Amino acid sequence: MTTRTAVIAGATGYLGGYVASVAHDEGYRVRALARDASRVPEGRCDEVFVGQATEPDSLAGLFDGAEVAFSSIGVRHFRRHPNIWEVDMQANLNLVEAAERAGVRRFVFVSVLHGPQRRDRLPVAEARERVVDRLRASTMEWAVLRPTGFFNDLDAYLDMARKGRVWLIGSGDERLNPIHGSDLAVAAVAQFDGASPIELDVGGPDVFTQREIGELAFSALGETPRFGRVPPGLLEGLASLSAPFNANLSTFLRMFALLGRTDAVGPCTGTHHLADHYRTLAVNR
Ligand SMILES: NC(=O)c1ccc[n+]([C@@H]2O[C@H](COP(=O)([O-])OP(=O)(O)OC[C@H]3O[C@@H](n4cnc5c(N)ncnc54)[C@H](OP(=O)(O)O)[C@@H]3O)[C@@H](O)[C@H]2O)c1
Repeated sequence: MTTRTAVIAGATGYLGGYVASVAHDEGYRVRALARDASRVPEGRCDEVFVGQATEPDSLAGLFDGAEVAFSSIGVRHFRRHPNIWEVDMQANLNLVEAAERAGVRRFVFVSVLHGPQRRDRLPVAEARERVVDRLRASTMEWAVLRPTGFFNDLDAYLDMARKGRVWLIGSGDERLNPIHGSDLAVAAVAQFDGASPIELDVGGPDVFTQREIGELAFSALGETPRFGRVPPGLLEGLASLSAPFNANLSTFLRMFALLGRTDAVGPCTGTHHLADHYRTLAVNR
């Protein structure tokens, strides 16, 4: 049987690293796209293709002979450039177009939970859903996963607890079910084989309020919980003020504000528990 090649864009990041690992274990020949080859995790990738997704010319040959493409490329910093329109949207559109031209069978993409419902008020949702729009119009088969927050983002609660106070957004009663990268990777690689278009919301196994997540963080450190409150309206005001000159800062402030306004719960899956993750980090850091 010929080995199937999967191109993983984002393999140098949190989710993409796990996807490369799971795909490798499932028998795919993993080709990682990286702008810096030294950042590709060892042992998970069979080939490294050095290229820059924001520059389409650098992607020539990336998808040669590949059956599947996956992308979790996106911005997770507050600097002005590159911004969500250049990376979350345009770099991923460049990948979709290059994959389509090369005859890739299936493209698996990661958007954000409730992306279609939030795209008019959350720019990063709009940026990523425009990629989904392009996939819908493509000749490839495709799958879109829309996950809740990842464990790596939730590490912020443990960091705040170490400093003595966890800042809750709003009342702290809104619920979310964060997911570990390896659990989401299993769900993503399961879609490499599918045939029809599919859109899946995905959440982790445990549903918590923000306050309960703060309590877990303090409990892992053996400390008494102490909380502060940030009004979502303050974050929304700052998001509006920063929007004209910093799209990244603005969209992440809006995303934080949403945490204090609505639940972010996806269908529960996975086996990794946040309490165990915090206990491990508390011991090891
Ligand atoms: N984190 C969450 O809680 C969460 C929740 C729902 C959805 N998501 C979506 O999932 C995506 C991936 O999350 P993650 O935690 O895996 O992010 P991550 O660890 O920051 O990884 C991001 C990946 O994108 C690449 N990238 C960033 N800027 C780039 C640029 N200018 N040009 C080319 N590549 C670039 C990075 O490459 P380098 O290593 O070269 O920088 C890295 O491989 C997010 O962007 C988000 O849209 C995340």
